Amino acid sequence: MSLLRTKPFKPDHGNERGLKRVLTAWDLVLLGVGAVIGAGIFVLTGITAATQAGPAVILSFLVAGFACACAALAYAELASAVGGAGSAYGYGYASLGELPAWIIGWMLLCEYMVAIPAVATGWSGYVVNALQSIGVGLSPLLTHGPDWFGSSAAGAGLINLPAFLIVLVIGLLLASGAKASAMFNAIMVAVKVAAILLFIGVAVFHINPANWSPFIPPLEVSTTDASSGFSWEMRLIDAIKYGLGLGAGGETHFGVVGIMTGAATIFFAYLGFDAVSTAAEETRNPQRDLPIGIIGSLLLCTALYIIVSILLTGIVNYRELNVPSPVAHALLQIGQSWVAGIISIGAIAGLTTVILVMYFGLTRVLFAIAHDGLLPKFFAYVHPKTGTPVGSIATAGLIMLAFSGFVPLGKLAEIANIGTLGAFVVVCAGVIVMRRTHPDMPRPFRTPASPLIPALGVLSCGYLMLNLVTFTWAAFGVWMLLGLVVYFGYSRTHSALAINAP
Ligand code: ALA
Repeated sequence: MSLLRTKPFKPDHGNERGLKRVLTAWDLVLLGVGAVIGAGIFVLTGITAATQAGPAVILSFLVAGFACACAALAYAELASAVGGAGSAYGYGYASLGELPAWIIGWMLLCEYMVAIPAVATGWSGYVVNALQSIGVGLSPLLTHGPDWFGSSAAGAGLINLPAFLIVLVIGLLLASGAKASAMFNAIMVAVKVAAILLFIGVAVFHINPANWSPFIPPLEVSTTDASSGFSWEMRLIDAIKYGLGLGAGGETHFGVVGIMTGAATIFFAYLGFDAVSTAAEETRNPQRDLPIGIIGSLLLCTALYIIVSILLTGIVNYRELNVPSPVAHALLQIGQSWVAGIISIGAIAGLTTVILVMYFGLTRVLFAIAHDGLLPKFFAYVHPKTGTPVGSIATAGLIMLAFSGFVPLGKLAEIANIGTLGAFVVVCAGVIVMRRTHPDMPRPFRTPASPLIPALGVLSCGYLMLNLVTFTWAAFGVWMLLGLVVYFGYSRTHSALAINAP
């Protein structure tokens, strides 16, 4: 039963570990918007419309947004009632037990450690393009990492220097203090939201309703699917998934199946609102402010996403959007070159804040896990002057510097989706379990219509997981196995609960 040992509830997120309580509800909403709006809207919306869903990418956004809304409500309840450092990992530790908590924490690490370098690679692409447009060219050897898998369309180089540098700079900023990071975030969020509002203001006058027809283009099934090259077992899984109407290979597109595979891809656009809850210990009034931060930022981002996807597919034909910078490309198509330039600046600002806030979330989850003894204590070192967990900032930074500079990550970004969806499934299930095991616990925020909403969260997030390609599942399986090896090889015996047990 030691696998299910639990920590006490900590609804007030009391912190005795040296982090400074400096953030307000408004800071949290801005952190959420900072983490969420990035590559998803500036890159993936166009590509998903062109290759998977057509103009019905709007419905993909609604499907993924619904799953996130259920998860956000569940997060808000657990954050305000159960508490605990490290976001969903902490709630899991207090309510479900050590091993389930470890599994959630390991999935969150997967989310952040894949998403951050993937977004840094996108950031690098935008910056290199911007530099080129003002006549500054960088050698391709310094703008692409080595092509380990022989799969990079962009070509191979020595190091992706811009991606490497942005992760380094953001790591230094985070180490300098949570409030300084939040202020920098607020400025960059203002730039990116202004760029999106400008897009909306311009695009609304250039809609051609013919572009929305057909709204759901007919189903097309490609014979070469993303799992070619994999074993017959994987192909069998693909065949079963396809038989269930889940669109297995990733190359199946359009039709209702395309909307669903598109939703699983576009889910990336929503990643990050959960990072808000990792700031609990640095928030002045966490029980009131965390639900505001989580739900407020998700609502704001969902509204912007739906509007942008309606407009983007309304101003140009969806087939034209399969390019690295679809929003800027669409504006060029309608003759708005100066707006396209401003959008690129907004995208660079946007991707910067995604890296910042996700990196923040990653270090707080690592910090919490290490503080509980499940990872080496070094990760939990807090600098006495800045009050920031520099141990986890430095270690996570080194890993991500290696990823950002030297690993081509484009195709692997969906692994972040599967890790996050897995964590959301457990969080939603956690609400249902806690309502049964602790019916009278004070709940400053209650998920409405429970158990219906959390159950729909489990089902919708689980369904989106099934829509991800087989390669993503295989990588996720390897990651989770590695997690179990670490848990049984190290964490179980080093756990503070094991050491302090009577
Ligand atoms: N939601 C973040 C983005 O779209 C990860 O870049």
